[in-house]
Amino acid sequence: METFEYLHGFGSEFSSEDPRCPDSLPKGQNSPQKCPYGLYAEQLSGTAFTAPRSENKRSWLYRISPSIGHKPFKPFLESNISSNWDEVMPDPSQMRWNPFDFPSEKKDFVEGINTICGTGEPRLKLGLGIHVYSCNVSMKNRAFYNSDGDFLIVPQHGNLRIKTEFGKLTVEPNEICVIQQGMRFQVEISEPSRGYILEVYGRHFTLPDLGPIGANGLANPRDFMTPVACFEDVEEEFEIIAKYQGHLFVCIQEHSPFDVVGWHGNYVPYKYNLENFMVINSVSFDHCDPSIFTVLTCQSDKPGTAIADFVIFPPRWSVQEHTFRPPYYHRNCMSEFMGLIKGKYEAKEGGFLPGGATLHSIMTPHGPDVNCFEKSSQEELKPCRVADSTQSFMFESCLGLAVTKWGAQTSKKLDHDYYKCWKGLKKNFTGPKK
Ligand SMILES: [Fe+2]
Repeated sequence: METFEYLHGFGSEFSSEDPRCPDSLPKGQNSPQKCPYGLYAEQLSGTAFTAPRSENKRSWLYRISPSIGHKPFKPFLESNISSNWDEVMPDPSQMRWNPFDFPSEKKDFVEGINTICGTGEPRLKLGLGIHVYSCNVSMKNRAFYNSDGDFLIVPQHGNLRIKTEFGKLTVEPNEICVIQQGMRFQVEISEPSRGYILEVYGRHFTLPDLGPIGANGLANPRDFMTPVACFEDVEEEFEIIAKYQGHLFVCIQEHSPFDVVGWHGNYVPYKYNLENFMVINSVSFDHCDPSIFTVLTCQSDKPGTAIADFVIFPPRWSVQEHTFRPPYYHRNCMSEFMGLIKGKYEAKEGGFLPGGATLHSIMTPHGPDVNCFEKSSQEELKPCRVADSTQSFMFESCLGLAVTKWGAQTSKKLDHDYYKCWKGLKKNFTGPKK
């Protein structure tokens, strides 16, 4: 796979010039009467102009042609993307999906996005969508952008080579990337590829506060990587596909959208390797809440409550004494969607497979299966490694999630026997004291 250069940091003010055009960024101002090299200046705003400085996100792009040079949008119908949360009756049951199929006919990244569940309203900029992508061809002379929100992309199989207006990045399984609202991108693949997407409407991901952990730990800001400017000067027909108000639209333009020669700002795409996550956990007793594994969070207006957390369960040591070490039995006021990138999930060694998923909805009980409970209640508690060669993750939300028709029916992947994994949990009650 090609290796590209990156800028390091999270939420930083970056600037980047394609080395073929040195000094392409205007000096001392954003919008001079004439830009260097005859470029057009264009601002991409990721927050309201008047957002507080600590949250304000925008970038300035200096490009060969302005984005406005395109024909009108028309509906793009080849898609299973949905934000209609009333397609099927709600179902509070525990849900598990077998691994989603690779496409049987040719589909690129955009055509291969299928919405499994979600909630809210893109027009109100509140809510989220959870999708899987499954594709077998590269996007050709085609770019995509999302006007509804940000995409957090979690590849499960196959490397993605992503061309963006800001430059190029490669994202492989066990890495994630975030392409924020409005950023145009194109995905190239070298084999049938599959993964998960968490979309949040109208808000952006941040790093979680660390509180008493201190200044370092979990996902460290310097490990986030943003591409460097790399333009192409191509005068060919390009399709620009927009996700707008939950639907896809397409328009045509006569030049590449990846024509940004230089850019600066703090509103950028980025990637992160999950291997760099510094795991913090109990070294005495009891099982920490999974929030200790939060990589990125998208906060609601309620303090400490997330529209969406991206949480991972990485390889680590387990050392707790006199403790039931796997995840505890749980009923949650939050929704929990899980996926598996590789290996086996510690609380359920069978049934939950890479490329599959589970959904445990608000207040629906969940927890270790029978085998896991029996084994972990008996085993000798020596320090041991857990989750080696695996990576499972959770999208957790304070919002109630609705499953789409694709998730419930069309995909044909729902495992109707999932509940049986808890069948056989024995009554161990020893009775009242005599
Ligand atoms: Fe839970």
